[in-house]
Amino acid sequence: MTTASAQANPNIAFIKYWGNRDDALRLPANGSISMNLDGLCTITGVTFDPDLSADHLIINGIAASEPARRRVQDFLDHLRQMAGTILYARVDSRSNFPIGVGIASSASAFAALSLAACAAIGLDLSPAELSRLARRGSGSACRSIPSGFVEWLAGAEDVDSYAVSIAPPEHWNLIDSIAVVNRGHKGTTSSEGHRTAWSSPLQEARVAGASRRLQSCRRAIQERDFASLADIMELDSNLMHAVMTTSTPGLIYYLPATLAVIQAVRRWREEGLPVGYTIDAGPNVHVITPAEYADPVAERIRGIQGVVQVICAGPGSPARLLRGDYPVSNAPERCPSLE
Ligand code: DP6
Repeated sequence: MTTASAQANPNIAFIKYWGNRDDALRLPANGSISMNLDGLCTITGVTFDPDLSADHLIINGIAASEPARRRVQDFLDHLRQMAGTILYARVDSRSNFPIGVGIASSASAFAALSLAACAAIGLDLSPAELSRLARRGSGSACRSIPSGFVEWLAGAEDVDSYAVSIAPPEHWNLIDSIAVVNRGHKGTTSSEGHRTAWSSPLQEARVAGASRRLQSCRRAIQERDFASLADIMELDSNLMHAVMTTSTPGLIYYLPATLAVIQAVRRWREEGLPVGYTIDAGPNVHVITPAEYADPVAERIRGIQGVVQVICAGPGSPARLLRGDYPVSNAPERCPSLE
């Protein structure tokens, strides 16, 4: 039996990934840029065991649904092929933040799983190879492998589609104050959404402009230019949601409180506060600010009707291995609950 554990942060995309050129390989339609979210984490333990006759998956202490287990099994099949083994695994995963609600839980989950599974099976991969592997589990997971501010290079094929750090966490103390307006699971998963993206008449235009938006975002991060970052991040989020709403079937993730937070952020910016929003495949709003404004902004968000919780996170570290024998039941020590 061989065991290993790893920890990873989720990430928030400033320039979004939406739609694949190849769904099976998760080769994205366009590159994307994100920030890892410190303090939010998934810890995953993996044990390859000759006595198992199938892969087992536990999420937050409970046996996972069959589709979730199947997804992990498909991922592990790929890893087993790479490692030349036929052993099945027990995967035990815990996250300290709400999962399946647009806070990229699949990103931290597959990043931690990639790292732990490779260590447990004895595969020694470079950071780029690890990021590529994580991408096969969930596209955004490739961005949770490197540190801080991260760009996923879309690439043309499997070998050149992976993420790299463009700035370390200390480069810019931005805070993501996540306005949670609904803790329930989203109706349509990102994976389903990626498949319908091309049915929108707007997707081609969104993809065609992506390299220009990536360039603006990269520059804004390098120069710590918050006003430019907020502009490009909001435009990119709005473009993605325009594609979602005009796809067949149409996807509307916004709830009334989502719009209330968007309107408030726009108002605060007009009043002179440096704030910007971005929204993933869920109703919760990520409100980004330089750290010195984070407390008053979080306080204002709490005052908006329909906001049930505000979770604050700064720029996070790369995915990392934990002591080989780290039991996932100890996860609350390293990853205290955010409730
Ligand atoms: C809206 O990475 O969750 O958060 O590859 O199918 O697991 P799968 O999708 P996922 O999609 C993320 C979509 C997004 C934008 C982003 O994070 O870039």
